[in-house]
Amino acid sequence: MASFITFSLFNLYLALIFAALVTANATFSEHFAKTKLTPTARKMTRLHFYFHDITSGKSPTAMAIIRPKTAFGTTVMIDDPLTVDTKPGSKVVGKAQGFYALASQHDLALLMAINFAFTYGKYNGSTLSVMGRNPVLDEVREMPVVGGSGVFRFARGYALASTVRYSLKTGDAVVQYNVTVMHA
Ligand SMILES: *[C@@H]1O[C@H](CO)[C@@H](O)[C@H](O)[C@H]1NC(C)=O
Ligand SMILES: *[C@@H]1O[C@H](CO)[C@@H](O)[C@H](O)[C@H]1NC(C)=O
Repeated sequence: MASFITFSLFNLYLALIFAALVTANATFSEHFAKTKLTPTARKMTRLHFYFHDITSGKSPTAMAIIRPKTAFGTTVMIDDPLTVDTKPGSKVVGKAQGFYALASQHDLALLMAINFAFTYGKYNGSTLSVMGRNPVLDEVREMPVVGGSGVFRFARGYALASTVRYSLKTGDAVVQYNVTVMHA
């Protein structure tokens, strides 16, 4: 018992020395408040649409491509319609293409790796890329928009997602997306 305590104290001592050394030598963050970070991103656009994740029926748009024995690691490839309204039949403005995967062993948090490929008006042919963490049971989930193409060149921003409908029976979901991006 006594030797265990001594050992622990010694470890703590080492840890403190190490922490002091790291604090002395490493800089975790620095601010450059006066630097113009993205002179290329001059516009800001807000988009509002609904994402239809359809896993059931004759023509699903989301399909599990990896099904491990546990839920963890389950990966779903999607080609989900994006519409202007919550109804599945409403005007399609693009597709969400990519995959999401259950990346947490403790809660329902997904890794989202998707591109929004827009087909509407001046956005036709332009894309936005989302790469982020999506804790699906949270009321509002924020995910980074990490880039874009076409009218969205140099894009960066964020997406706020909130579930409008989810069917436990079919697994189908409708999710509202509010996307704010700065771009060229
Ligand atoms: C979008 O662009 C494609 C390719 O240029 C074209 O075929 C299509 O008709 C366009 N769609 C809309 C809705 O403008
Ligand atoms: C998204 O935008 C809609 C329409 O502008 C708004 O009603 C809603 O509260 C917004 N949701 C979030 C999470 O910001």
